[in-house]
Amino acid sequence: MKILAAGSVSSAGFHINVMVHMSDNDYTFPHRNILGIEQLSARDITHILDTAKSFREISERPIKKVPTLRGKTVVNLFFEPSTRTRMSFEIAAKRMSADTFNISASTSSTQKGETLIDTAQNIRAMKPDVIIMRHSSSGAPQLLARHVDTCIINAGDGAHEHPSQSLLDMRTVLDHKGRINGLKVAIIGDIAHSRVAMSNIIGFTRMGAQIFMAGPRTFMPPCLEEFGVTFCNTVQEAVRGADVVMVLRIQLERQNDPLIPSLREYSRIFGVNRDVIREAKPDAIIMHPGPINRGVELNPDVADGKRSVILDQVTNGVAVRMALLYLVLGGGREDALQGGQ
Ligand code: CP
Repeated sequence: MKILAAGSVSSAGFHINVMVHMSDNDYTFPHRNILGIEQLSARDITHILDTAKSFREISERPIKKVPTLRGKTVVNLFFEPSTRTRMSFEIAAKRMSADTFNISASTSSTQKGETLIDTAQNIRAMKPDVIIMRHSSSGAPQLLARHVDTCIINAGDGAHEHPSQSLLDMRTVLDHKGRINGLKVAIIGDIAHSRVAMSNIIGFTRMGAQIFMAGPRTFMPPCLEEFGVTFCNTVQEAVRGADVVMVLRIQLERQNDPLIPSLREYSRIFGVNRDVIREAKPDAIIMHPGPINRGVELNPDVADGKRSVILDQVTNGVAVRMALLYLVLGGGREDALQGGQ
């Protein structure tokens, strides 16, 4: 890849320098929906991560606002709780001057029996440009994308995918390691119920990393061999020599019956603490998508320690989501955003 253009989107003295990384074939971002990492090629992922890096600088300015998405309307449609994802999509949209609206399950008419598709079609009738959706059911954003022609971004669907989380995780690893290809990434915890795990297994392997996983057998899905991941018997084995240690929360909300005897036992056997981290490379980074159950899957001294990049992940969440909004709305395609200028 080479930088072909360092263009700028500007108005009233605001500038975003968007590095356009293209190969000789004039790459154009091809997606109007971001439903999963599964749909993204390595090239798409690289383009999103490069674009996010360009946008990150806006959040460092005294006045954190550019007109790029002025006139665009972004709807956050969240049927599950969220702090990081919902807020960072909203901040991202507002920093780019889009109008944002939040709809949560408790305040929507789904409470009165309206179907998801009816809700979406009614939202669409009000002409938003992007719908960002979180839902407890795997496949809900895909269903929406089949019924409405508005851009859809999946903000986490059941235990399926959480693509923007995976992209911000990859951006964070790139910042700290300079590459993803060839890294050893240990993923520890509740893999089976984690949409973050699924997106990261697809994303990191697509970008050339090797994944090693550990956790209780009841938390290990049966069908991941096709991705080339390695199951380890102990956390220590998975973490040994790792460049990146990614710790996941136990997704109690997605388990009908308890799959582990107790949280105390889980913490003793699978909890990531200073002793476990000694097995990793000396410069290994510690990641967690949040929210953290402190003292269960991750000890506070590791979560808050000098190798932790957990808050960097959150910071990158805004930049990655700015990039996604920009790209799905045609950013980088000539004149695509002119209506909003
Ligand atoms: N990582 C993540 O999805 O966090 P939220 O549930 O707070 O959005």
